Amino acid sequence: MSDGVDAAAARLREATRVVVLTGAGVSAESGLATFRDPGADPSDPDAAYWSRYDPMQMATPEGFHANPALVQRWYLWRMSRGEAAAPNPGHIAIARLEREMERRGGSCTLLTQNVDGLHHAAGSRRVHELHGSILRWRCARCGTPATDIEGPPDDAPATCRCGGALRPGVVWFGEALPQDVLAAAAEALDRCDVFLSVGTSAVVFPAAGFIETARARGASTIEVNRDPTPITSMVDVSLQGRSGELLPRLMDVVFGATD
Ligand code: OAD
Repeated sequence: MSDGVDAAAARLREATRVVVLTGAGVSAESGLATFRDPGADPSDPDAAYWSRYDPMQMATPEGFHANPALVQRWYLWRMSRGEAAAPNPGHIAIARLEREMERRGGSCTLLTQNVDGLHHAAGSRRVHELHGSILRWRCARCGTPATDIEGPPDDAPATCRCGGALRPGVVWFGEALPQDVLAAAAEALDRCDVFLSVGTSAVVFPAAGFIETARARGASTIEVNRDPTPITSMVDVSLQGRSGELLPRLMDVVFGATD
């Protein structure tokens, strides 16, 4: 095999502690849109989100306060798409990596920028959601968790008992990532010997900076991505293609074919 799978497998075989960082690309083969795609056609209903919507309107506290009902509707729509989606072979391969590493006395920590819950659905357990979850809502005013959130009636936003508008439990631009998640990420990165980046454009910080931390620690670095990214020239092994195809192959080479 000359496409780098063997080279990546050799690094994983030697590893004791692996950190996987994922982005929207890992869920693309589950039918969920990514955020950025330079070739996207904005009239295509499945095109990358930021070619069709303004991130300042949909993914900032200011955008939410300006029009909470609009933002609620957008996240409820995305949530319903996510709930209808199933994990794909890429998610399943990452869950397998965790199981196999633990079986041989090591560990695999998954840091995901995704809010769709598909890694949990695939069986990953050591998962840290850097950007929160679209499945957990809360009151933007008092913080009370919201259950059974329903679509807001036309222009009025869905509200909490206190009158505050409900918001999804995701991290927006300009907001801090959860402290406990950042601490868990820092600890895992500080101890890892392989860092595997999957399906992320590697432009949104702090996740985009994790590779530098891992490299400084002496970890081997592998990227699995459909397109080149700013970290492609930095990694030890770059696998260019779809994660739902490459990751299962990679796991089979490292741990043996499953059937
Ligand atoms: P992006 O949409 O920026 O990047 C997705 C990456 O996945 C791109 O580099 C694609 O080439 C790649 N890709 C697409 N399909 C793939 C496939 N089948 N297999 C492998 N790679 C594939 O998504 P993220 O990097 O996750 O934050 O974006 C980071 C953050 O920016 C998101 O969490 C979100 C967004 O704004 C917030 O909303 C706060």
